[in-house]
Amino acid sequence: MSALPNSDKAKVAMSSTGRGVDASSVTSAVVASFANTSSARMTDCASITTAERNEFSLLSDILGVSSLVDLQSHQPGATPGSVLGPFHNQDSRWVENGANLIGGQAGEPVLFVGEVCDTDGRPLHGATIDFWQNAANSLYPAQDKDQDPHNLRCKMRCDNGGHFSLCTVIPQPYTVPYDGPVGAMLTAAKRHCWRPAHFHLIVEAPGYRSLVTEVFPQDSAYLDSDAVFGVREGLTVNVDTVNDPKIAAKTALSSPFKRVHFRFQLARA
Ligand SMILES: [Fe+2]
Repeated sequence: MSALPNSDKAKVAMSSTGRGVDASSVTSAVVASFANTSSARMTDCASITTAERNEFSLLSDILGVSSLVDLQSHQPGATPGSVLGPFHNQDSRWVENGANLIGGQAGEPVLFVGEVCDTDGRPLHGATIDFWQNAANSLYPAQDKDQDPHNLRCKMRCDNGGHFSLCTVIPQPYTVPYDGPVGAMLTAAKRHCWRPAHFHLIVEAPGYRSLVTEVFPQDSAYLDSDAVFGVREGLTVNVDTVNDPKIAAKTALSSPFKRVHFRFQLARA
């Protein structure tokens, strides 16, 4: 498509916005559809978009479109979905249920305990999680060459009761990228670019809809002003202080320790 004049790019893009569009082609179709726009903001978004950075995805997030899609696809009784964000990796390693992801790094240790159920609260066999978060310096591995690329992310199989646990650190608030046109829009709107602290999870079980969501520590800053509108009622958790030497010994944490507990409920596919 790059050899086409802009007017032809737009025609091709418009022909791709109907039933032929899919997840692999929608972004290039949208970018090309703005080839003839007179809006400097849109051409700026297109010019900064690469394989590693998608300014249109960020634009969708800060306009609330991503959250609108999540909310409109919500199934009754299921845990609400929330934004995937730009830092998910397909190649996270499978680790044992109960794994410790901390590995001596900075941050406040926390035991994340979860269970995966159907919408009636029955545990789901064969459930899995895909987990990722940022480190104590607020950065994801993709933003920080000093982190192991696999830091604080993993895939894990739940036990037969749908339970999982892992040791990690409390995530930190962070800013969405604000050095491009979306950042300029936020500044013009007198909006900040911060997101509250969160854990990212994709929760799956055979026969059920995949859940892409986020879990927010209740005491995080910016819960009431998330730059991408990702906070939903029911996605916040208390960070409890637990004094239980037996659990501490099993998890290599020191008692008392911090713990969050979250129940994920999936809708039938
Ligand atoms: Fe995130």
